[in-house]
Amino acid sequence: MKVAVLGAAGGIGQALSLLLKTQLPAGTELALYDVAPVVPGVAVDLSHIPTAVKVEGFGADDLDKALTGADVVLIPAGVPRKPGMDRSDLFNINAGIVRNLIDAIADHAPEACIGIITNPVNTTVAIAAEALKAKGKYNPAKLFGVTTLDVIRAETFVAELKGLDVEEIVVPVIGGHSGTTILPLLSQVEGADFTQEEIEQLTHRIQNAGTEVVEAKAGGGSATLSMGLAAARFCLSLVDALNGEDDVYEYTYVEGDGEDARFFAQPVLIGKDGVKEILHYGDISEYEAKCKADMLDGLKADIKLGEDFVNNPA
Ligand code: NAD
Ligand code: LMR
Repeated sequence: MKVAVLGAAGGIGQALSLLLKTQLPAGTELALYDVAPVVPGVAVDLSHIPTAVKVEGFGADDLDKALTGADVVLIPAGVPRKPGMDRSDLFNINAGIVRNLIDAIADHAPEACIGIITNPVNTTVAIAAEALKAKGKYNPAKLFGVTTLDVIRAETFVAELKGLDVEEIVVPVIGGHSGTTILPLLSQVEGADFTQEEIEQLTHRIQNAGTEVVEAKAGGGSATLSMGLAAARFCLSLVDALNGEDDVYEYTYVEGDGEDARFFAQPVLIGKDGVKEILHYGDISEYEAKCKADMLDGLKADIKLGEDFVNNPA
C-alpha cells in the first residue's frame, strides 16, 4: 500500500503526515510531495519516528515519482482563507493547482483513490472529476471530497452541549463543504433531544466552524490540526477498506445518483475498489428539508463552476 500526500509541507500536510506515519499499517509507503523546498526535511524529520511506515519526500520536479504506484492520493495543496474571505475566494488560485495535480494523477496513478481537501471542495471535486474525464481516467468510485472535518466538529459540539461521550456520538453531516451547504442532521442523533433554538444554534455553529478558526488565527490560515486529524481518519478508513475490511462507512462528498446534486456528501460504504455503495441519508426533519432545499441551488452553482473551469474555460 502506498499513500501520497500532495501539499505535504503545509499546515494540514504536516499534521496529516505525522498522523499517517504513526497510524498507517506497517509496511505502508508514505510519499510526501510539495513545491515548498522544505518537503525533503519534513520527510527526514518524520522518518526518525519509530514505525514501520517508510516516508520519502519529493520536491517540485518529482511529482511523477511521488505518485507512481500510489493507492491513495490526498490533496491538501493550495492556499487557505484569511479573515473576510469565503472559501469560494480561493477558487482563482486553487482551481489551477488541483487541475494540474489531477492531470499528473491521471498520468502516473490512474487507479488511485483520490481525496480532495483543497478548498473550495464543492468546486475542486468537480474540477477533479472533469479533468480525469478529459484524460479518460474518471472513476466516480475513486474520487472523494473530504468532509470529515464537518463530522468531527458536529460530534464535538453536540457532545459538549449535551454532556455526551464524544467517542460514542454519531452526527451525520450531508451536502457540501461551505456555509449553508454543510447540513448536520441533528434529528438523527441518538440519545439527544434538542429544542428548535438549540438545533438552529448548533447548525449555524457547525456551518461556520471553519470561519471560527480562520478568525481566531487572525490571518495565520485556517484549520490545520483538526483537519489533519479529519483527513487521517478518512485516509485510514480508506486504507482499511482497500485492504479488504468490511463495514467501512464514511460521510464523504461523492458523485451519486444526482437526486440532490451531482456531488453530495452522504454516507458511503467503502470497499476494496473504492465506493461500494452510496447509502441514502434517510429521513430528515422538516427544518433540515428546508435547509437542504434552500442551499441546493448554491451547491449546484459551485459544482458548475468547477465543470466549466475544465470544459468551458473563459
Ligand atoms: P498551507 O498554506 O499551510 O499549505 C498548503 C501547501 O500547499 C503549502 O505547503 C504549499 O507549498 C503547497 N502547495 C501549493 N501549491 C502546490 C502545488 N502545486 N503542488 C504541491 N503543493 C503545493 O495551507 P493549509 O492550511 O494546509 O490548507 C490547504 C488547503 O486545504 C486550503 O485550500 C484550505 O482551504 C483547505 N482546507 C480544507 C479543509 C476541508 O475540510 N476540506 C479544511 C481545512 C483547510
Ligand atoms: C474548514 O472548514 O475549516 C476549512 O474548509 C477551511 C476554511 O476555510 O474554513
